[in-house]
Parts: sequence; structure tokens; C-alpha cells
Amino acid sequence: MLGAWCKTRTESSKGTASVWGEAGRASLRWLIQRQGPGWTQDFKRHKKYGPVFTVYLGPWRRVVVLVGREAVQEALRGQAEAFSGRGLVATLNGTFDGVFFSNGERWRQLRKFTTLALRDLGMGKREGEELIQAEARCLVEALRRTKGWPFDPSLLLAQATSNIICSLVFRLRFPYDDEEFQALVRAASGIVVGVSSPWAQVRGWDPSLSKAPRQVCTVAAFATQQIQRHQRSLDTSGPARDIVDAFLLKMAKEKQDPNTEFTDKNLLMTVIYLLFAGTVTVSTTIRYTLLLLLKYPQVQERVQAELTRELGPGQAPSLGDRARLPYTDAVLHEAQRLLALVPMGVPRTLVKTTRFRGYTLPQGTEVFPLLGSILHDPEVFKQPEEFNPGRFLDADGKFKKHEAFLPFSLGKRVCLGEGLARTELFLLFTAILQPAVSGLFNIPPAFQLQFRPR
Ligand code: HEM
Repeated sequence: MLGAWCKTRTESSKGTASVWGEAGRASLRWLIQRQGPGWTQDFKRHKKYGPVFTVYLGPWRRVVVLVGREAVQEALRGQAEAFSGRGLVATLNGTFDGVFFSNGERWRQLRKFTTLALRDLGMGKREGEELIQAEARCLVEALRRTKGWPFDPSLLLAQATSNIICSLVFRLRFPYDDEEFQALVRAASGIVVGVSSPWAQVRGWDPSLSKAPRQVCTVAAFATQQIQRHQRSLDTSGPARDIVDAFLLKMAKEKQDPNTEFTDKNLLMTVIYLLFAGTVTVSTTIRYTLLLLLKYPQVQERVQAELTRELGPGQAPSLGDRARLPYTDAVLHEAQRLLALVPMGVPRTLVKTTRFRGYTLPQGTEVFPLLGSILHDPEVFKQPEEFNPGRFLDADGKFKKHEAFLPFSLGKRVCLGEGLARTELFLLFTAILQPAVSGLFNIPPAFQLQFRPR
């Protein structure tokens, strides 16, 4: 059965320029390769078919794939409006809507609302920075309590980032040993593992086969409980304490409007996605960066030397310090580039029939902008599989921006949390790597030795 599904289908439409005719390579292998560093294959395919080709995901889904910086930028930035529709993440089909998955007027309204609500709550301002710095202090305190014993930092990091989004969405912060909070964070992380598995990709071939991961229910139950708490305590004269309050106030204002997008369902869906994105994305990136530092201790030493030189031990890093920490900034950028957290991009659709690179793509066509292929494009980043923070530094050691650094995507649906995520990455990472204040002696950290007779 799988064999039949994986059958390669190539339609050629001689005479007319049609993207469907260029290449139709559907395969389970293609999707599974996307789970790992399969970019070499993409670039080979790109060389054969060009940067725009078609993939059949099973017999039903036909997707246009964009490979490399030029094609993705030309589509998502050059024809931003046409490419602004959201496509399917089949595993979550039917479960999700809200700001992330909606389209048209609903998406426009929810995106505008969420962006403004985050700004009103201090994102991009001093208050937002203080909120993240306070969480960074709690995180470092919890890390110190591990007293040098080896431990898996996944849960703790995800709890720290989750607390930041919970503060913005619900004005709530949880202690790290709270079991209900731990279950919530585990559920949010489980959703990512669920939607990223090769099996989930195969089910994506036919959205009707797809079932939302069970962890969605845990996150939804928590969000519902918090929304109900807000409904009971809402002060209709304002001001909003958090995003849920802001949404409820907007709902009250538009109560008489039969076309309002400020509904219970859209509130729940928007909140669930924010919780999920706020918990998983930044913490995973920091975890990966720490892993790279374990592999490259000389990079860690350079980061810590820069932090000591520029901040001094014990001084909490702030965003204003960023310009004085070019190497640290370069390490974070390079780690994000190498990780390529969302390698296939999030599926888009065309909101109208569009001419693109000589092809006519009908309205509704699904598009996968392969962000990983930009971040690993060998023509932009030489030896892309190497971890080399130097790419983000100029000859004077100053931080150098890269036009192709696009882990947050681009265009009208660019990551809405980009500003928040960048601030969190910088403040949490620098706080973790901040050297401790020296005492009378410099005591080397505890470590374990494994003795194996030869
Ligand atoms: C390292 C961290 C993050 C990365 C790499 C990342 C990446 C992305 C990407 C690739 C997209 C899809 C954009 C597209 O359609 O082309 C996206 C969308 C989105 N992200 Fe993030 N994200 C991160 C953190 C966050 C955080 C912390 C939030 C929470 C506020 C967030 C909220 C969103 C939302 C709401 C969307 C949907 C935007 C829309 O459809 O209009 N993200 N993100």
C-alpha cells in the first residue's frame, strides 16, 4: 500500500509553461529526509528541476516546493499578498484555527489584534525586557540548584519560556516544581514531537486520516480553565491585564456585530497556539545552542570571555548590551541557522491565481517554502553543515547581518513572535552563560570520570 502511495508521478505538459510539468516527485523518502539534514538531496533535486518543483504527497496532495533563497524571497516577499494564505498542517487539521491557521479577514483581524496586544503588554519595550530578565534569574537559580550534577535541561528550559508566554497571555507564572505546569509543558513539547514525526508526515498525505495529537487536549483544557477564570474576574472598564483580557474586552465591544471574529473559538485557538509556540520554539533553540557549546568548548570559552569582559561577573545582561557582545550574538545566529527549527517552513497557500517564474499557479495551490534550504544554501553560507559563528562577524569582529538569515520566515505571515523570540534567546542564553561571581578561590566545576582499563 505504501509502495503505491509513494509512486512517483510526473505530469509533463509540453507546450504550456506549467509548474506541474517540471517535476513531480512524490515520495515518503522526500518527507522523511526533511526530518534530518536532507538538504543535499534538495539541492541535487533543485539542480535537476530548478528551484520550483512539484511534489505529490500521496495521491491527493499536490504541493509546490520552493528551494533556496532567491525563489523563496521572490515568492514570500516579492509577491507577499498572493502567497499569504496558510496551508494545512494535516496532523492538526480541524483542531486549530486562530491566528496561526486562519485565512482571509479572520487572520487579518487576529494577527493585528495579537501584534498590538503583545506591544501593549510591553513587548519591544523595557517592561517586556524586565519580564524576561526576571524569568532568566529564576532559571539560573534553578540551574544552580543542580549543583553540577548532569541533568536533562529540556523541561526546565521549556518551563522558563512557557512562564514568559503564560505571563503575557494569562498573567500567570508557575514555580518549576508545579506538577500541573510540568504536565502542560510536556504536552506542548509532545505536540511538536507528534507533528514532526515521519509518521505524522505520512498521515498528512490525507488530512482525513489525521487525528490531532492527544496532547492538544491537555493544552486546550488548561487554556479553557484559564479563559473561564478571566471571564469571571474581568473588569470591563479595563485596562487589560493580559492577552485574554484584551480579547474579552474586544469581544464585549463587538458583541452586536454578527461578523465579528472575536469569538470564544478564536480566543481559544489563538491562546493555544501562543502557548504552544511560546513554550517550544525558543527553549528548543537554546537547548540546541547549549549542545553545540558542549561540542565546541572553545566557542563557549569565547562567549564567556566576552561576557566577562563586557559585563563583568554577576551583572544581568540587558538588550542594550547586545551591540557590545558581537561574538555571543553571532553564536546565537549561527546556532539558529544550523538548527533550522522549521525546515520545511509552515505551509502556505495562494490566495489568488498567480504568475510566478513563468508558471501559472491556481488559487489555493499549496506551497512549501523550504526555509531550511535557505539557511543551508551552499551558495550563501559556504560549507553550510559546519558550525561557524564567524559567518556573522565582519573583518573587525563586529556583528554582520545576513540577508538570508530567515529562520522566522518572511512576508505577510512572518513569525508574529519574532521580536519576543529574539529577546528571549538573547537574555536567557546570556544569563545561562554568565560567569558566576568569583569568590576567594576559583574552584573548577565538579565532573565525573570514567576509568576504563586498556
Ligand atoms: C526560535 C523561535 C521561533 C521560530 C524559529 C519561529 C518560526 C516561525 C515560522 C517559520 C513561522 C511561519 C511563518 C510563515 O508562514 O512563513 C512562524 C509563525 C508564527 N509564529 Fe513563530 N517562531 C518562533 C517563536 C515564536 C514565539 C515565541 C511566538 C509567540 C508569540 C510565535 C508566534 C508565531 C505566530 C502567531 C505565527 C503565525 C503567524 C501568522 O500566521 O500570521 N513564534 N513562526
